[in-house]
Amino acid sequence: MEEFTGFKEKAKAVWSDFASMENFTGVAAPRLVEFARVSSQQKVLDVAGGTGVVALTAARTGADVTGSDLTPQLVSRAKENNQILGFNVDFHEADVEALPFENETFDVVLSQFGHMFAPRPDIAVNEMLRVLKPSGTIAFTTWPPELFMGSFFSINSKYGPPPPDGMQSPVLWGNVDIIKERLGSAVKNIVFDRDKLVMPGLSIQHVRNVFETSAGPLKKMVQAFEEEPDKLFSLRSEIDAAIDTYFENNFLRMDYLMTRATKAL
Ligand SMILES: C[S@@+](CC[C@H](N)C(=O)[O-])C[C@H]1O[C@@H](n2cnc3c(N)ncnc32)[C@H](O)[C@@H]1O
Repeated sequence: MEEFTGFKEKAKAVWSDFASMENFTGVAAPRLVEFARVSSQQKVLDVAGGTGVVALTAARTGADVTGSDLTPQLVSRAKENNQILGFNVDFHEADVEALPFENETFDVVLSQFGHMFAPRPDIAVNEMLRVLKPSGTIAFTTWPPELFMGSFFSINSKYGPPPPDGMQSPVLWGNVDIIKERLGSAVKNIVFDRDKLVMPGLSIQHVRNVFETSAGPLKKMVQAFEEEPDKLFSLRSEIDAAIDTYFENNFLRMDYLMTRATKAL
């Protein structure tokens, strides 16, 4: 258990400056809100929601929205975004593996590239389903292992410290068979869809530079390899090759998977 406590402290550091990416992931937020069929009168929870891009987009429908994330800096930024918009979203610092909400509170539970980073998928999904009302909707966006972000995370984990025992790769949440198994009989009517995000960049190296300087695991890794030029060269070469596969017309194409399901009674 302590291993996961240490892992989560490191996760907070990795994600602490993700606010710089909010306009990038923000583009996908309306797609998830629409896919989940969020509407006014509903009580909606967004987990691992970063700076609130999904929660605030959902609030535009008139829904009663709660946002949550592990990382304190991102929750602070979410509260600022809330003020800028003049909305009333209730933001909390919360681990998706231990949500501070009563059973069966929400009509909809959402996660955009979020709960996939919790180290224990069974605990995360049990929590999301616990706080969801019977017949409520769970909907999430994840990165498939076989596409760009799958390669990106697998290269990062190859160069990074070993994960805690028992931790499963986040991108397994992008595999439809594994999703069906993890949701199991707790849900019915599973629906999948796909869409894409693009990251503009003049070249492969420009796109890599965005990942290296903005936020997330590659930024931390590049900082860690400052004194190890051979490792840094090799890491960058692998990242460039992965970007090259999906780079076209001055943007990087990143396809993602969407899942929606209804909680069984
Ligand atoms: C790629 S960011 C996505 C943020 C946001 N959903 C978006 O689309 O902009 C991943 C997020 O997962 C959060 N996260 C990682 N592990 C978490 C956990 N165990 N519980 C809650 N949030 C977590 C991070 O703090 C970060 O905000």
